[in-house]
Amino acid sequence: DRDWSSDVCSSDLRHHLLTLGTLAAAALALGSVAARAEDTVKIGIILPMTGPSASTGRQIDAAIKLWMAQSGGKAGGKKVEVLVKDDAGVADTTRRLAQELVVNDKVVALAGFGLTPLALATAPIATQSKTPMVVMAAATSSITEASPYILRTSFTLPQAAVGIAEWAAKNGIKKVVTLVADYGPGNDAEKYFADRFLLNSGQVLEKLRTPLRSPDFAPVLQKVRDAKPDALFVFLPSGQGAQFMKQFGERGLDKAGIKLIATGDVTDDDQLADMGDVALGVVNSHHYSAAHPSPANKKFVAEFEALNKFRPNFMAVGGYDGMRLIAKGLEQTKGAGGQALMDAMKGQTFESPRGNILIDAQTRDIVQDIYTRKVEKKDGQLWNIEFDVQKSVKDPGKQK
Ligand code: PHB
Repeated sequence: DRDWSSDVCSSDLRHHLLTLGTLAAAALALGSVAARAEDTVKIGIILPMTGPSASTGRQIDAAIKLWMAQSGGKAGGKKVEVLVKDDAGVADTTRRLAQELVVNDKVVALAGFGLTPLALATAPIATQSKTPMVVMAAATSSITEASPYILRTSFTLPQAAVGIAEWAAKNGIKKVVTLVADYGPGNDAEKYFADRFLLNSGQVLEKLRTPLRSPDFAPVLQKVRDAKPDALFVFLPSGQGAQFMKQFGERGLDKAGIKLIATGDVTDDDQLADMGDVALGVVNSHHYSAAHPSPANKKFVAEFEALNKFRPNFMAVGGYDGMRLIAKGLEQTKGAGGQALMDAMKGQTFESPRGNILIDAQTRDIVQDIYTRKVEKKDGQLWNIEFDVQKSVKDPGKQK
């Protein structure tokens, strides 16, 4: 054995060796970075974390945090890294962020999409880059037709609207006025509610709309009063229900004997607890209630609330199931993305907090149970209490 420091005591050589040592260490470090990069898959999540739809972003982000905590952030033998980006609900921003996530971050999947226009703006990027795009929130029927790389874990407005139309027709409601937000999901809600209600001999007296941004409900509520229907059917996107409900009560429509019926977007679990007694008794239909009595949902709600300190709504469940769908796909592809991941996600079925769900392999849209619910007070809080169910409902918007 030779002692380099004393034997060959050239400081030049020692410097050379030190440099080599440093390089070797650096190379080792680089190697492990490369190995780590290979062991990590990135998922790009785009959500409205600010702006008028911020509650959707907050709910889905909280659900993703729960999934990460429960799964240890692993899928298909890989570490999962989620990159959450805020589009503030602006479609041009969504599209730019999607482009950056695909090109710079090389994400295996895009997910999120809090509003229909945001999902539609991103569809061409999914198609061009062959990147799977999981719609966790937006709910216009046609979204899944905008790209063969889109799958959906939320719901469709035709699914939700048909249930309450059936209930209304069978429960003595003959004349209805409809009120919807004036964009994609509102068009779907209005059309599928009216078609099903007319089929059951109901009558739609008037079809009213409010703008998506900063709606003023006063003028339309006056029109509803004047039309004197048996019931008002409403769809508004998540986040607008509380304000609408307040004005409905303030203008005395409930006392004028006009029943309120809706999709569950209006009696949204995110806001329901603070809506007050005007919401009591509102019958509505939807795919998820935080009060769904299954053991899987009780566990989900308890763990979600423990982590996030608020009640999960249907947006949270769309986000949670979207993460599970991507993870199940990655298990099959051993972490590969692209077409392989797309194929692996089609046809997946599992028990969600809402009930059993299936991602239809042909349409890439969700098949799920739709519940009829009534807002009731339990332990001093308002909940959507399910009292009827239609099993395994496919999107009626695709059965032309
Ligand atoms: C949508 O923009 O597709 C959307 C947003 C919120 C909802 C439902 C649909 O509650």
